Amino acid sequence: MQKLAELYRGKAKTVYSTKNSNLLVLEFRNDTSAMDGQRIKQFTHKGIINNKFSYFIMKKLEIEKIPTQIEKLLSDNEVLVKKLDMISVECVIRNRAAGSLVKRLGLKEGLEIKPALFDLFLKNDAMHDPMINESYCIAFGWASKKHIENMQKLSYQVNNILSRLFDNAGFILIDFKLEFGLFKGNIVLGDEFSLDNCRLWDKNNLTKMDKDRFRQNLGNIIESYKEVARRIGVKLD
Ligand code: TMP
Repeated sequence: MQKLAELYRGKAKTVYSTKNSNLLVLEFRNDTSAMDGQRIKQFTHKGIINNKFSYFIMKKLEIEKIPTQIEKLLSDNEVLVKKLDMISVECVIRNRAAGSLVKRLGLKEGLEIKPALFDLFLKNDAMHDPMINESYCIAFGWASKKHIENMQKLSYQVNNILSRLFDNAGFILIDFKLEFGLFKGNIVLGDEFSLDNCRLWDKNNLTKMDKDRFRQNLGNIIESYKEVARRIGVKLD
């Protein structure tokens, strides 16, 4: 499927139209951003790694009956997806305290959280993705009660599937962010699942294997992404 017009350039991906109005091409670039896009750096191979990693994860989720927008891997850094009407709300699941939760509540990083938390954030870089809740979504028309309940249920299902998958490879899934959209009126998982939008620690030594390596200047981001891909069975070449 040929890319036609560029529709949208995000921080790490570019979205293109195709001749089929129900399908889009997502192109994964090498850009890595932090601080709401104020800090951006290119890492060779990152687009390829994230595209293949995300495709691998989405296929695993589809097998477990999670509806995803994925249609077909097109190339090393491009995937064909269903065109969703995206919901501008980010769904975050937290199994352990890290990131903004640690900052907000002063918790110890790594503290186990049971049951896992479900947080909502408004997708708005200019406002630094503020935390919101269900009643904000309903009051301002960002998502209906039914859609939020559905997204929450799917997020917890994804958490069960992926916590197990990563645990089997020797990792702890600390937290992650999902984005959903509507396709023919149904909630479908969109965007990507990669090490850019989750936190993943090595079970043995609690090494950070995810984008915190960039956010916290820990170095070796690509080596770390490749190591996770290798251990869960993503074929990169
Ligand atoms: P946080 O600690 O910044 O709230 O992030 C929680 C998780 O969600 C972490 O794995 C990073 C991911 N996330 C994104 O990928 N993009 C976002 O815009 C936000 C708010 C979180």
